[in-house]
Amino acid sequence: MIPHFTLASGSLVSYLFYVPPGSPIYAGDVIVVDDNVRNLRFFAKVTEIESAKESAPVPPCTIKITAYPLGFVDEKTIFHPPRTTPTTGSAIRYPTTDDLTFLTRIMGEIEIGKMRSGMGLLEEVPISLHARILTQHMGIFATTGMGKSNFMKVLAASVMRDQPFGLLLIDSHGEYVTGLREADGTVHYGLLHYKKKRENLSVFSVRSDDIIARNRLEKLSLSYHNFLATDLELMYPLNHAQQEVTFSLLPYPGEDIIDFFMNEDVESLPSSMKTTAYLGNHPAIVHRLRSLKPDALRVIQRHIEDLIKRCQLFMTEETSSVQAIVQKLFQKKVVLIDIPQISEQGELFIVAVITRAIMDACKKRAIEGPDTRQVLIAIEEAQRVLGENSVGAQIFRELIMEGRKFGVGVCAITQQPKNIDRHLLAQMNTSVIMGLSDQYDRQIMATSAKQDLTKMMIEIQTLGQGEAIISTLGIPFPVSAKIHHYESYIDKLNQE
Ligand SMILES: Nc1ncnc2c1ncn2[C@@H]1O[C@H](COP(=O)(O)OP(=O)(O)OP(=O)(O)O)[C@@H](O)[C@H]1O
Ligand SMILES: [Mg+2]
Repeated sequence: MIPHFTLASGSLVSYLFYVPPGSPIYAGDVIVVDDNVRNLRFFAKVTEIESAKESAPVPPCTIKITAYPLGFVDEKTIFHPPRTTPTTGSAIRYPTTDDLTFLTRIMGEIEIGKMRSGMGLLEEVPISLHARILTQHMGIFATTGMGKSNFMKVLAASVMRDQPFGLLLIDSHGEYVTGLREADGTVHYGLLHYKKKRENLSVFSVRSDDIIARNRLEKLSLSYHNFLATDLELMYPLNHAQQEVTFSLLPYPGEDIIDFFMNEDVESLPSSMKTTAYLGNHPAIVHRLRSLKPDALRVIQRHIEDLIKRCQLFMTEETSSVQAIVQKLFQKKVVLIDIPQISEQGELFIVAVITRAIMDACKKRAIEGPDTRQVLIAIEEAQRVLGENSVGAQIFRELIMEGRKFGVGVCAITQQPKNIDRHLLAQMNTSVIMGLSDQYDRQIMATSAKQDLTKMMIEIQTLGQGEAIISTLGIPFPVSAKIHHYESYIDKLNQE
């Protein structure tokens, strides 16, 4: 007869034990296995609860529990991944505060929530991510309303508090600066509510001068010089002939390209170029374009006109905030680009321009010698630029494939992990999986995260608002977390 709460059998991937009926044990509970023979303490997480078979060597009506190994602590109180199994017959119990300190020791420095265990929270175990791993790319995956924005604000507040790296956030919904008030009166704080560390936040905004002055924001501006012709591929669907035009324009400065297409009569150029003398300001561009298709040139002209119109709130001939943004990021600040009411094209353009500037600056400083000032770039609706067929998104692919060499990481936020290129997904060393309603999305995440999460499928399926499973290289097992509620977290941080 196997006594209750003792290890019936164990392997590297699963532990089995029995408990009496009515025991308060739930899927997701963290349990401890005391291996007194080897003086090791194992941690595991309950994954399945079912009635024991009649043939099992246990009293009738007993409950069979399966648990997933998290790791073990040795005599020197060092935590290890589960590379061995506890001795059969070891006693099993709930963790004490003393046990939980081992779990806190393996955490990093960027606090985002508390550890969940079954039905409750382990208040003593904050979940903190490792800064050095985050810039090796991370992904936040959740269906709408499950807590992505809340997570990003919590992450931003922790970065403002401890300044582990520079964090770039681009907010096209206008929800991160001052927060929002919902129709039912619920107040959502913005980043400005974290008053204590206001100096570690820089906001570049397209709002009115009045709002900018009142909240000590800075005015966002991008100059024509920041424009690269291939940026159009990200914003508009282009056919091959049109792509040929953008590619041909690559060597020319953005201000010349914009001036040419905005002020000269492209309509008449292709036919007249060959026969009559060109008297405009851009002979080199004209020379380069003369053999290209007139239809394609007209389309590119329309797109450039459209882009300038959409971006008129922040696009200028001369001034640009881009270098200031890069400098603030290098000073390890949170930089928020606040662009409510800017169209998707405008948003993608801003992301591309700033990403390019960050990459260029990081590559340049890498030549000068090692530099530890890392930058994390958050990209919302990341499937737009990280999909398998995302055209014109070369800069983002380059960022994921090479960014870590230069200390730049991506934080990709998406509701549809299935639409992210599998190769890029595989580069993310941290996955924050929140509620995902689509089964295929859940399966992709379970298999593409750094740790195998297939044993946790049921938990992934039942994640509620603000709950997450985090798989990261810095922590040796997948962590169940309850992300801090941003408003409560800020109230606490402001008291520190
Ligand atoms: N960790 C949490 N604790 C408590 N409440 C939370 C938590 N995370 C999110 N919520 C609440 O859930 C609601 C939706 O959260 P949030 O806006 O972050 O979702 P979202 O994933 O960004 O949604 P959308 O896709 O619509 O942008 C908000 O009212 C928020 O306060
Ligand atoms: Mg949101």
